[in-house]
This record gives sequence, structure tokens and C-alpha cells, in this order.
Amino acid sequence: MEKLRIVGGNRLQGEVRISGAKNSALPILAATLLAEGVMRVGNLPHLHDITTMLELLGCMGVEVAINEDMSVETDCRNVHSQVAPYDLVRTMRASILVLGPLLARYGVAEVSLPGGCAIGSRPVDLHLRGMEAMGAQVEVLDGYIRATAPEGGRLRGAHIFLDTPTVTGTENILMAAALADGRSVIENAAREPEVVDLANCLVAMGAKIQGIGSDTLIVDGVETLHGCHFHVLPDRIETGTYLVAAAVTGGKVRCRDTDPAIMDAVLVKLREAGALITTGPDWIELDMTGRRPKAVNIRTAPHPAFPTDMQAQFVVLNAVAEGVGTVIETIFENRFMHAPELVRMGAEIHVEGNTAIITGKSRLNGAPVMATDLRASASLVLAALVADGTTDVNRIYHIDRGYECIEEKFQQLGANIRRVTG
Ligand code: UD1
Repeated sequence: MEKLRIVGGNRLQGEVRISGAKNSALPILAATLLAEGVMRVGNLPHLHDITTMLELLGCMGVEVAINEDMSVETDCRNVHSQVAPYDLVRTMRASILVLGPLLARYGVAEVSLPGGCAIGSRPVDLHLRGMEAMGAQVEVLDGYIRATAPEGGRLRGAHIFLDTPTVTGTENILMAAALADGRSVIENAAREPEVVDLANCLVAMGAKIQGIGSDTLIVDGVETLHGCHFHVLPDRIETGTYLVAAAVTGGKVRCRDTDPAIMDAVLVKLREAGALITTGPDWIELDMTGRRPKAVNIRTAPHPAFPTDMQAQFVVLNAVAEGVGTVIETIFENRFMHAPELVRMGAEIHVEGNTAIITGKSRLNGAPVMATDLRASASLVLAALVADGTTDVNRIYHIDRGYECIEEKFQQLGANIRRVTG
């Protein structure tokens, strides 16, 4: 088993290139199932989840060519299967994103029902209700969602109100609606930048969508969508993770090939923590001028509020800050799995329900720790970078799902970090 071995104490300094956003690349790759022609998707991050999505498309008959610059070309002319098998879905919940495209394009879809995961039960009921509202017959049998479009094989436009602004649910329904017969209105839609990126990609493929970026998406279904070239937006969570790494080590880091316009909630909190932030059109620089951060209060909520995927990193920021910070998690019910691991490193964290109260300490200590999910594992790396001594972060397959070349990028910033086996 591979682990990351980190010796803490180095102040991070330098420049890091931000990769394309995983959570944008995944729905956009699923959307290639909708295209009649060849699609070219660029700025894909080199991550396990992307490989899994390409494998999933491949087993349906999509021809995938990977170019040297990590762009891919997909061709759906020979699709022969509309099944997303258990073995792939269980390794990546986002496989559910093929449901909408398959159903809209081929009139049928069979997708293994994703189970719970480390951060909560994560149902997909709103995805299924959306498909039903568009006239699909949906049943769950033998662990699989089996969905069929109405007579004639085409979904019908519908008025859909989402109880909660689910990100992948909005994406699934949006992709289905793009090829449905007539107008769909998706209310209380998620407004995350990755949803906007998908919507822009669909428009580039010929879809008719109004209200992009708002919580009401109006989609006039078209009969066919064509291929296009699309460049995935930068990863705002990867950006935020490197900025917090700079903040906790008192360093100065510039993230390039990113987008400050999609980072507001995180940048506000970093400034509140005492960081000097400067931005350009595609870069963000954080300078902590050697100081310790000040504790900040965080409440996660759907975009444009503070993202749940940055919560664990800010728990670490508070753990080494001056003062006491409160972090409230409102999206997922079990997302403080990193807290007990951070406590093993000397952090003072008191979790009660969906709230963590963190008293900042001037020092953390290296210790063997266990990653439990993607963002939790990133937080353990951040804690290790600032801790005294050596930390081994185990189960790093979680981190490889979401962070491209994490050890190389941190090494470039001056961290003492390496991948070891055993
Ligand atoms: C996406 C992101 C994930 C991020 C999350 C919240 C991807 C691939 N993943 O996950 O990184 O942490 O958004 O920003 O983009 N819910 C229901 N019923 C449903 C769907 C969701 O009750 O049918 C609930 C969930 O349990 C959760 C909340 O809605 O409490 C938000 O989840 P959702 O936005 O769907 O998260 P994902 O799309 O799975």
C-alpha cells in the first residue's frame, strides 16, 4: 500500500499550476455520450476518477483517444451498451452521471445504484425523480437503476423542482433535458461553477439553455447535439487546497492557470485569516508573510456559499490558528472523519453533530494517520506540512482520485513529501 511520508516545518514558497476541475471533467465526459460527432475535451486532470470515467465510456463502446496533452477525443458512433456496471460505479459514485445522457440519447439506461460512502448516505432520489418527471419508467432491481424513456424513445420536457440543489442531480437532469422533446424548467438548480461549465459545453454542442449560472435553468430540447472542442475550467478545490497549504505554513504561493472569479467564498475566509491575496485574470497569490493564521468561522452551503469540499482544509487552518474557530457542515451528515485523525496529531477539535469547534494550537505533531475520503486526506497532508516531525498518510488512493501529482506539486513548493510503499 502506498502512503505519503511528510516531514513538516517547511514554509511553502513558489508557483503551482492548477489542473482542470475533476468535478467539471466528469459530467462533461458523460455528456460526450450525447454527441453525434467527435468531441474533444481539453484540460482534463490526470486522475483515477477520470480514468474510471473513460473506462466506463469505453465499456459502452465509446471510442476514446487520449492525446499527449491530456485532451481526449470521444466518438460515440459504435455505442453498443447502456450499462454502467457495479464494479465501476462502486469505485466512483459520479458514474451516475451517465444516467441522463444514456436515457436521453438511447432511450434506456442501466446504472448500478451507488451505495453510501464515507461522508454520508448520499441518495440519488432527485436524479431519478427528474428522469420520471421527463416520462421515464424507473425501477431499481438487483442493485441496478433500470430506466426507459417513454414510447418513441424520447424523454419529454418537464417542470422539475429540486428539493435540494444537488450538483450531479442538476447535471444529470440538464443533460437529459438537452435532448428531450420540448421545454424543461429546472428550479432550485445547483449553481456550482462546474454546473455552469457543463451547461456551456452543452451549448457549444448545440443545446438551448437559458439561465446558466442561476438557480432556474430553462432548456429547450433539441433533436441532436454535435461534437465540439471544450476546455475544462480550473479546479477551484485544488486551488483552495494549495492556498490553505501556503497559509498554514506561513508561506507565499502563486496558483496559476486558475480562476479567481469562482473562488470568492474561500478567498474571503483566507483574507479574514490574515492572508494577503492578490489576483490576476488567471492567477491567485497568497502571502502569509510568515505569520500564523487567525481562526475563522465557516458554514458550508451550496454555491456561491462556502464549499463543503474545502471544509476539511479549513479545519486544519483553524487547528493551527490563533483563536477558536467554528466549522458548520450543512451538506453532508458525516463529514468530520478527519477530526479524530487530526486530534492524533495534537489538534484540539470538539465535534458535536454538524459543528466542529477548533481551538488553534501553535504546534501539531507528526503521526501515522489514515485518509478516509478525498478531501479529508488533503487536510491530513496540510496538517502534516505544518507539524513537527514525520507524518505517514495512509490509504492515499483517496487523494489520487482528486489531486493530480500531489507530491510533485508540493515538492515544487518546497515541501518535504514523498510517496513510499509499505
Ligand atoms: C458533488 C461533488 C462533490 C461535492 C458535492 C457538494 C461531483 C462529482 N461531486 O457531489 O465533490 O462535495 O457536490 O458540493 O461533482 N441529495 C439528495 N438526493 C439526491 C442527491 C443529493 O438528498 O438525489 C443530497 C445529498 O445527500 C447531500 C446534498 O443533497 O446532502 C448535496 O449533494 P450533491 O450536491 O448531490 O452532491 P454530489 O452531486 O454527489
